[in-house]
Amino acid sequence: MTYSILFVCLGNICRSPLAEAAFREEARRLKLDAIVDSAGTGSWHVGSPPDARAQAVALRNGVDISALRGRQVKPADFRRFTHLVAMDHDNLSTLRRLAPPGATAELSLLLDHVEGLEGQAVADPYFGDDDGFDLTWADVTAGARALAAELRRLRG
Ligand code: 4NP
Repeated sequence: MTYSILFVCLGNICRSPLAEAAFREEARRLKLDAIVDSAGTGSWHVGSPPDARAQAVALRNGVDISALRGRQVKPADFRRFTHLVAMDHDNLSTLRRLAPPGATAELSLLLDHVEGLEGQAVADPYFGDDDGFDLTWADVTAGARALAAELRRLRG
C-alpha cells in the first residue's frame, strides 16, 4: 500500500512545508513510496510561497522549498490521505472538528511519532525570531524520521 501523508499547521508557510520537505527526504532515503503534501487550517496564505525564514532554514539543510505554495485543508483530504499529521494541538482540534462523515485518514500530532515526545507540539515560529526556525527544523526532522521509519516497518 502507498501511504499518503498531509502535514498540517495553521498558515502552511512555516512548519508544515518544512515537515513535508523533511519527510520527502527521509522517505527517499528509506525507499518508502509515499505521497506527501502540506496544508494549513487557515486561509490567509493560500497561494503564497513558504515564509522566507522557512525557505532559508530548509536551504541551510540542503532542501529547496521555494516552489511550494500554501493551500487550505479541505474535506476531501480526509479520504484522499491515509494520514493527517498536525503540528500542534490547535491544528489537531481543528482537523477533528472539520472531519466529514466517512473520513478515513488517521489523525495524529507529528511529535506523537517520536519516542519521548508524544503529545508535544511543534511550536509556532511565525511571531518569533530566526532561531525559532532552527528549532522547528530540528522538530520536524525528528518527527519526519520517526514517522517514515514507522511506516516503513508497517509496510514490511
Ligand atoms: P505556520 O506558521 O502555521 O507554521 O505556517 C504561521 C504562519 C502564519 C500565521 C501564523 C502561523 N499567521 O497568523 O499569519
